[in-house]
Amino acid sequence: MPTTTSRSLGFSLDPRSDDSLRRQVFDQVVARIATGTLPAGFRLPPTRALARELDIHRNTVVRAYEDLEGAGFVVSTVGRGTFVAEVVGGTNGSVTQIRRSLPWDSLLSRATNVEPLGRVDRMARIPRGPNEAIQCSRLQPSPDLLPDALFKRCLDHVFRVQGAKALEYAPRDGVPRLRALIADDLSRHGVPASAEDVLVTSGSQQALDLVARTLLDPGDTFLVDESTYSGAINLIATAGARLVGIAADDEGPDLEALDRAARAGAKGLYLMPNTNNPTATTISRARREALVEWSHDRGVPIIEDDYASDLHLDGVPPPPALRALSGEVIFVGSFSKKLIPALRIGFVVCPKELRPRIDSLKHSMDLCTSGLLQSALAEFIERGYLAAHLTRVIPEYRERRDALTGSLSKHMPDGVTWRVPQHGLHLWLQLPPSVDADRFHDEAQRRGVVVNPGAFHSPNNTRRDGVRLTFCSEPSDRLVLAGRRLGQAAHAALGTAAGGLTTQDIT
Ligand SMILES: Cc1ncc(COP(=O)(O)O)c(C=O)c1O
Repeated sequence: MPTTTSRSLGFSLDPRSDDSLRRQVFDQVVARIATGTLPAGFRLPPTRALARELDIHRNTVVRAYEDLEGAGFVVSTVGRGTFVAEVVGGTNGSVTQIRRSLPWDSLLSRATNVEPLGRVDRMARIPRGPNEAIQCSRLQPSPDLLPDALFKRCLDHVFRVQGAKALEYAPRDGVPRLRALIADDLSRHGVPASAEDVLVTSGSQQALDLVARTLLDPGDTFLVDESTYSGAINLIATAGARLVGIAADDEGPDLEALDRAARAGAKGLYLMPNTNNPTATTISRARREALVEWSHDRGVPIIEDDYASDLHLDGVPPPPALRALSGEVIFVGSFSKKLIPALRIGFVVCPKELRPRIDSLKHSMDLCTSGLLQSALAEFIERGYLAAHLTRVIPEYRERRDALTGSLSKHMPDGVTWRVPQHGLHLWLQLPPSVDADRFHDEAQRRGVVVNPGAFHSPNNTRRDGVRLTFCSEPSDRLVLAGRRLGQAAHAALGTAAGGLTTQDIT
């Protein structure tokens, strides 16, 4: 059947489209209402007449009109016809705007003026180079590794089973089915937890924010790695705390440095034991045990961020979680890196003394995390899709990591070092003292590679000796090219040979 067109409204239906004819009639009426072509009060053609014009069954038009009425676009009156509805919420006649502004400078909070937040702005303003620039800065899966079709199946399932109930507010501590699944997974990984222990949050970023707000008063001291997650720096600084960076060796934070920093008291120590962002260091088992002992001895709580859980690229699990060693550790997790960042689903498991405060704060911040997405995620996990997804993506990430590190090995000058990470989606490129990370960043960008400078992750904005490189956002062949270009950038920053661009590199 060829495309059919209505004379009266100019609709055009395509029988080969994936959308049903009923859906096409609905969409075309809605599109014309949105542009004002069909104004409020306009009478739609009678169903029989429109069906005849479009050469389709009358019932198709009747159903489309019913859908339009159900969605609030039209009103039907028996015997009179179907009319475009009055828009609710339009302006009430003309208004005159007052043009004077309020004294915003004196109204803005000090919290929103802290230095680290300015870094976020500056980073957002750094020109990203041409569109085809290779992304070694973004810490999120590339779209080809996001399971959109399978996730949509789960969303459809939730709507089929729950109908409109899926669109209600969720319980403030999370959808029970998802909480139970998270608890089961934690228990399988040696972290004892029941569903009641799990509070679902809007991303692990919110979990960290909740913990910071629960513990911190302005002026408090808070301990972090010397290089740490910029998002944590931002919220701890915004809470008015004094951030103290702790030096680390290959095994993790230095205990003597910790002791010195906490001498006058500290409200917390934030760690990413499985893979620090940005240095990709994994804390050793012995150091984990020592850190937990230290926390108990000094009365300083540890916040453990397992943001990249399950991403063990060589199949070797990391040492036990700190939370497995002590129920006093505050444990934060996320589905953003191993699955889908847009879910905005994370969680926190904390000592019971904190829980009522964290629950109330969570409620006051956003009432709840999307129940629709939580239910779809629970379905995704129960169907075994998450396990299958990890089975698919881990070898791919391993290949990407090896592509990047292999190319770095070939092209980096002496003095630039990195470790091949076993967990997570990034590595740390350690630059020699003579190369400033910002300079390297600029040289890399000129060659079409975007990297993440170390200062961004430094509590006092001082770390200039390295950059973070991610290998999750680009396919292997582009990461090989990135390694070559980064080698040239390093040569250029060092003032040694091989800094030039070749045509082959640009294409
Ligand atoms: C170390 C770390 N923790 C937490 C987060 C927040 O992740 P989300 O809020 O998406 O769960 C990120 C995001 O990049 C991160 O790198």
